[in-house]
Amino acid sequence: SEIVIEEGTGFCGVDGSVDSNHSGFNGIGFANTDNATGDGADWQVNVPSSGDYTLEWRYANGGSANRPGEVLINGSNQAMVDFPVTGSWESWTSASAEIVLSAGENSIRLQGTGSEGLGNIDSLSVTGNSPQAVACG
Ligand code: GCU
Ligand code: CA
Repeated sequence: SEIVIEEGTGFCGVDGSVDSNHSGFNGIGFANTDNATGDGADWQVNVPSSGDYTLEWRYANGGSANRPGEVLINGSNQAMVDFPVTGSWESWTSASAEIVLSAGENSIRLQGTGSEGLGNIDSLSVTGNSPQAVACG
């Protein structure tokens, strides 16, 4: 099954702000990291058993270069994701990563590896065996 996490349950925060000044996002806004290496956003999910999951971020990158990110699951780097330019901050598309989640609660962090931080992140979708968005912490 698939869940989509917007700015509600399961979204734990961003090193920056939740903004709404570029149209096309779903929900109340999008996560805008400050433009610095290591700045990112955090989510929390629960799964019934260890297994493979697909993470997909809806994002916009109106900058002039890719804004690559690394995916930390429970603090361990499991994947790198490219977030190529989308042409404007109002043009949204998606980028994904395949990762492994452990039984129970998992923290998911996406952080920029370049000095511009991440693109603007609208949502995180988690697909696999019965994921649930849960309270952070
Ligand atoms: C602009 C844009 C922001 C974006 C930022 C960036 O300021 O309005 O939404 O996050 O560029 O370069 O990251
Ligand atoms: Ca930004």
